[in-house]
Amino acid sequence: MKFLQCNTENAKAISHLFNETFTASEGANEGKVIGELTTELMSTTASEDLFIFVAKAEDKLVGSIMFSRLTFENEINAFILSPVAVHPDFQRQGVGQKLIKFGLQALAEKGVELLFTYGDPNYYSKVGFKQISEDIVKAPQALTYPEGWLSQSLSADELPPMSGRCRCVSALNKAEYW
Ligand SMILES: CC(C)(COP(=O)(O)OP(=O)(O)OC[C@H]1O[C@@H](n2cnc3c(N)ncnc32)[C@H](O)[C@@H]1OP(=O)(O)O)[C@@H](O)C(=O)NCCC(=O)NCCS
Repeated sequence: MKFLQCNTENAKAISHLFNETFTASEGANEGKVIGELTTELMSTTASEDLFIFVAKAEDKLVGSIMFSRLTFENEINAFILSPVAVHPDFQRQGVGQKLIKFGLQALAEKGVELLFTYGDPNYYSKVGFKQISEDIVKAPQALTYPEGWLSQSLSADELPPMSGRCRCVSALNKAEYW
């Protein structure tokens, strides 16, 4: 298994992986929604505001994760991990955790200080994320599932103090994703 950072040249194959993976786990409608979200993230986000990492097995694309910028008033260097997909044939073999850890290491080396995600705390706690109250950091949109608002610092043990709501990139800035 190889883990790599990649650019938007492979956008079609990456969106297809997200569509196929979410169709298998949550149905065709969700597959289409997440496939389109990834297409939009890759086509509308400035390159310095989006990081894409992939897992490949013998050159077959088997996993992908995306990190896009969250903008705070105090200009802290922050990104959100979303979405994440591992092809159904490769799930529960540690690929997701290894790919996320690879991405975290690469972002730490690029000077990213703070990460967020919005998902299952049981899964993301395996790669260092902890639940965070919206009293500390308010999400870009109203959360339907506040327990899923998670963060981790890449630069310090404690989260730095922050105030106000953060802004996400435009592709993620739709109420239906939150
Ligand atoms: C969620 C997902 C990315 C996990 O990737 P993975 O490579 O299968 O996970 P790993 O092998 O690294 O980790 C496995 C462990 O994570 C946990 N886990 C796996 N999938 C999980 C899920 N959907 N929810 C909660 N925990 C999960 C389990 O505890 C599992 O350990 P176990 O097999 O000992 O029970 C993958 O299953 C997937 O793409 N699912 C469909 C899309 C999705 O739900 N994406 C996440 C939201 S954006």
